[in-house]
Amino acid sequence: MRHFLRVLWVARRHAAWVLLVIVSMAMVACATVFALNLIRPIYDNLLSPGGASRAVSAAATPKPFLVSRLDAVSAQAQAWIQARLGTGRSTLLLLVLVAIVAKNVFTFLARYSVAQLGLATVRDLRDLVFDAVLRQSPRYFHDVSSGVLMSRVVNDVRLVQEALAERFGDLLQSSVTLIGILAYLFSLNLHLSLVVLLLAPLLLAPVVHFARRLRRRSWQSQERMGDLTTVLDEAVHGMKVIQAFGMERFEAERFRNATQRHFWANLRARAIQIANAPVMEIVGAVGALALIGYASSRIASGAMTIGDFSAFLLGLWAAYAPVKNLNQFNLALQQAVVASERIFQVIDEPVDILDLPGAVVLQGVGDGVELEGVWFAYEDDAWVLSDLRMAIPTGRTVALVGPSGAGKSTVAQLIPRFWDVQRGAVRVGGRDVRESTLASLRGLIGLVTQETILFNDTVRANIAFGRDNPSQDRIEAAARAAFAHDFILQLPKGYDTVIGESGLSLSGGQRQRLAIARALFKDPPILILDEATSSLDAESERLVQEALENLMKGRTTLVIAHRLSTVRNANEILVLHEGRIVERGTFRNLLEADGVFAHLVSMHELAGGDDAPPPVPEESEERSGS
Ligand SMILES: Nc1ncnc2c1ncn2[C@@H]1O[C@H](COP(=O)(O)OP(=O)(O)O)[C@@H](O)[C@H]1O
Ligand SMILES: [Mg+2]
Repeated sequence: MRHFLRVLWVARRHAAWVLLVIVSMAMVACATVFALNLIRPIYDNLLSPGGASRAVSAAATPKPFLVSRLDAVSAQAQAWIQARLGTGRSTLLLLVLVAIVAKNVFTFLARYSVAQLGLATVRDLRDLVFDAVLRQSPRYFHDVSSGVLMSRVVNDVRLVQEALAERFGDLLQSSVTLIGILAYLFSLNLHLSLVVLLLAPLLLAPVVHFARRLRRRSWQSQERMGDLTTVLDEAVHGMKVIQAFGMERFEAERFRNATQRHFWANLRARAIQIANAPVMEIVGAVGALALIGYASSRIASGAMTIGDFSAFLLGLWAAYAPVKNLNQFNLALQQAVVASERIFQVIDEPVDILDLPGAVVLQGVGDGVELEGVWFAYEDDAWVLSDLRMAIPTGRTVALVGPSGAGKSTVAQLIPRFWDVQRGAVRVGGRDVRESTLASLRGLIGLVTQETILFNDTVRANIAFGRDNPSQDRIEAAARAAFAHDFILQLPKGYDTVIGESGLSLSGGQRQRLAIARALFKDPPILILDEATSSLDAESERLVQEALENLMKGRTTLVIAHRLSTVRNANEILVLHEGRIVERGTFRNLLEADGVFAHLVSMHELAGGDDAPPPVPEESEERSGS
């Protein structure tokens, strides 16, 4: 419940609409009661043959405050209308029409402002959830699946929306109207109101009972439907096994059982639904007859007019709808409370990687990147990196090689501080990455990984990711250096082609070169390439390789590769094995040393050396790619 109230707190920004909601709802209640009170003169004056005399006798009985006020106001209004339009007998009807039109205009206003308020709040809530998700570090996404997050943003917010934008407005309107009507009924006939109020629970009991049973039954029927689809699903997926084992009869029997149970559950739910109306009609008739019996004696004794009684009956009827609404809201509210709890769980989730107090803005790489005695584990005590020491001096290229699972990608993720190390430090420009702001640190780093992430946007926007109004020259320069310009021009709309669009399939090499163009456009001093070429065929790799070399020029680069060609030119090669550096040196030194590196090379763990195919012209790559 606390969390649902927090949702309301999110709505505080739309205070103006709250005011409109309150005012228009109050006006609806006023108009409703006003129109209700006009029933009395309609019956007593307009419809009764001896209207005038009865009205006199009715007017003789003093009415309590509310009814007499309403009478006074409607008398004034009638006089006003009469004076302007000279309408005679139809004056009263005109006034009723005005009241009903007013009620509906305000109903529209009330519902519209509730919708505006609810939907805007739900929008804010979604934005809040997404902002919270954007702040999180990879640790969070490792623990929380994307399906769960999807469900929070889509389903849970929808439940809150239902309660807030639809039911909550009904509830509020019902409550306000109900208060107005009850006040009117009590004022009209205190005695009768008290009796009805005491008897109402008796009359409403079957309604509540039916609703509860129906809910349980329809839930059961859904469960049975679930059983049914499970059998179906199993059968379809396991059809070969079923047929091979001659189990068709058995499966058919199983399915019959499921459909039969579903049939019964369904039928029971329907029975309750069908019984609802007749029972309600009988209960209602009993109540109405009792009321009429009472009223006939009162009217005969002159204590009440037909108009009074009609207004009372109509008021009761008008009070019933709000009561029904209250019940519906209860269900929606329960769902929304649970949903908002889950939503705020996402919003409140503490962030483990964030700017520490006093974090400074990194101005540049300084003397390079350094890992100093780094110990790192994703989960407690399972060390992935042990006492790792390495340095990438400014403008140099260091290559990291080693078997899969050695911890290479982990190193790549520590430099932009996607994770914090347990011991030791990662330094950029001589400063511990934990002491600099995330934005400035990550602003210095370009990352190209094995899986290329492109966004559902134009080629241009993907290259100039996150920049508004990028200059076309710079984008083209980046694309050219990434060997992407030519194939981009052949796309249906060139740089304005939207990447996610159906029918457009880019090859792995093309996607990778777009990612490289993106890194080139960002022009970061530090570059991290994590197996940027490993998912490509040999032909595309050559082009991507050349693009990468353009990208690496003059940058402080960490390159993780499983291809010899990529690491050959590195200033230093580090061989990582189970989180430790087991060898380091230049390409030549390492081969001569005939250690782990030489072994990796001979085992083809590092593939694509001197025997890699020669560069191929752009066209042939395009054809193979599409
Ligand atoms: N998010 C993670 N959570 C837990 N363990 C991880 C995570 N990412 C990688 N690992 C583990 O850390 C080790 C090193 O992984 P990684 O750095 O990806 O190796 P490499 O890139 O050299 O193949 C592996 O044992 C891997 O299972
Ligand atoms: Mg890896």
